[in-house]
Amino acid sequence: MPRCFAGIPPAIVAVALQGVAYAGVQLAIRQMAVATSPLQFAFICGMLAAVLSHFFGLARWWLPIQLLFVPALVLMLALDFPPGYYLVVFLALLMVYWSVFQTQVPLYLSSDKIFHALETLLPPAEPGKTFNFVDLGCGVGGVLTHLAKSRPDGHFRGVELAPLPYLFSWLRVKASGCRNCELRWGNFWSCDLSQYDIVYAYLSPAPMEKLWQKVRSEMRTGTLFISSTFAVPGQLPERTVQVEDLHRSTLYIWRM
Ligand SMILES: C[S@@+](CC[C@H](N)C(=O)[O-])C[C@H]1O[C@@H](n2cnc3c(N)ncnc32)[C@H](O)[C@@H]1O
Repeated sequence: MPRCFAGIPPAIVAVALQGVAYAGVQLAIRQMAVATSPLQFAFICGMLAAVLSHFFGLARWWLPIQLLFVPALVLMLALDFPPGYYLVVFLALLMVYWSVFQTQVPLYLSSDKIFHALETLLPPAEPGKTFNFVDLGCGVGGVLTHLAKSRPDGHFRGVELAPLPYLFSWLRVKASGCRNCELRWGNFWSCDLSQYDIVYAYLSPAPMEKLWQKVRSEMRTGTLFISSTFAVPGQLPERTVQVEDLHRSTLYIWRM
């Protein structure tokens, strides 16, 4: 991405490029005095936005979004739904994807097979001994409740920023009856990782380098940092575990 865009969330860059594409196509069509249908106009805008996004260095998966965004708007408007429907869907999505705009970490869930693989990475049970586990961005609480049930000798904590997933996790923990499981609504960047023996994260490529700095400066010697799917650039893990789930996920494991 050009240096002038450094630090600007990609979603803002994408919207700005849509604006530039719209203005450019509008101007060109006026100059050439050609007639286009709204859908044709939308596709030309989409194509230009996708090309600009490519040259401005947006990740490749933005390109189909940029291409189809305005045509999708035109098609949805043609369906003539009452505006209230859009508001309801928007608010529901906002409650789930609340912070993605800043964090660049959407909600997707660890599989059952990951839950089982994580179980094997917990410290062996020893009478009178306990351990602390945290899931950074615990989503809907699946990892936590599964591990808390299978290991009553551990303390499990989840931190989640998005309101609806947090609420779902909270209900799930209450319904599970696990007393060794607690949740915090908030940002994991303000958590002190020195309290934990195992830190688990399933995030996205975006925060991994910064998270690694945090992990290195706060976690105690001998504790475990486990990242599902996303490696830390330039940091060789101590070991990896290949999980035979739908996405053939990999767990990257570092001992501090
Ligand atoms: C990919 S999901 C993983 C959910 C869960 N850990 C699992 O493995 O099933 C990532 C979650 O992290 C949350 N998240 C992202 N950044 C966060 C932050 N800075 N603080 C707290 N939660 C965050 C997102 O809202 C999302 O629910």
